[in-house]
Amino acid sequence: MSEGARKPVVAETREELSAVRSAVEGTLALVPTMGALHEGHRSLIRMARQSADVVAVSIFVNPLQFGPGEDFDRYPRTFAADLQACADEGADVVFAPSREVMYPAEPQVTLRSGPMGARVEGVTRPGHFDGMLTVVLKLLNLVRPDVAVFGEKDAQQLAMIRRMVADLNVPVEIVGHPTVREPDGLALSSRNRYLSAAERGTALALSRALRAGEAAVQGGPDAIRGAARAVLDTAVHAAPPLGLDYLVLVDPATFVEVTAAHHGPAVLAVAGRVGATHLIDNLPLQLGSPKER
Ligand code: PAF
Repeated sequence: MSEGARKPVVAETREELSAVRSAVEGTLALVPTMGALHEGHRSLIRMARQSADVVAVSIFVNPLQFGPGEDFDRYPRTFAADLQACADEGADVVFAPSREVMYPAEPQVTLRSGPMGARVEGVTRPGHFDGMLTVVLKLLNLVRPDVAVFGEKDAQQLAMIRRMVADLNVPVEIVGHPTVREPDGLALSSRNRYLSAAERGTALALSRALRAGEAAVQGGPDAIRGAARAVLDTAVHAAPPLGLDYLVLVDPATFVEVTAAHHGPAVLAVAGRVGATHLIDNLPLQLGSPKER
């Protein structure tokens, strides 16, 4: 651990977690992660510290949310560095269960993410949101936090978690944290480490497309989509090329595409593959003049 950083208590089993949880005095905030922690995760931990007396970080690469042929096996596992990051940011507890601890038996009962989970990212990653919601609900049940903090970079994930908490009356407050970006605009992601320099150059088109869409906000939904698409059209012919999965302008609560007449909040979301790496990004926008909203 770095100088002065207090080592978090590490719980690997449900029993260890239960003992740690029982000893917590005051409120508890959870930051659920799959590890490979970067500055984005660090900012979630800092926000969690502002939200509660005690901060727990979970680190678990959840097999249920990866489809066949996705990167579950090669997903970066960097536990020692993650523990250091948690210590540096003042996390009190790290819950790092094994697959056997989280799934002692093949689960028979899992969550279905419904129509919302089949939209947008759910089209390219069928079943992803079912697996994600299942593990998030399990983590909330195990850790019993007062607050749980998630990044807005996974905007559809965050919207689905908010919906699950509302629909199933889960007693937790969900807090979102704005996307953290590199100085050139690339959204931080654990998967960025897969990118070669040339691939990273192509990947920059995602955030540039979002900024182009934002610059066209006065023109309304069609202008926003058109401006963003123009940037992506260039990137699909770049070397290496961007394999565009989607560009959508959606209602932030439902992820249904907004109409040409839409006023109010919307999310411009984009996803694609550069080489073998799947990347997503989004930007929240306000459509319509303040008078019209
Ligand atoms: O965003 C992530 O890292 C994961 O989807 C989450 C929320 C930790 C569930 O596995």
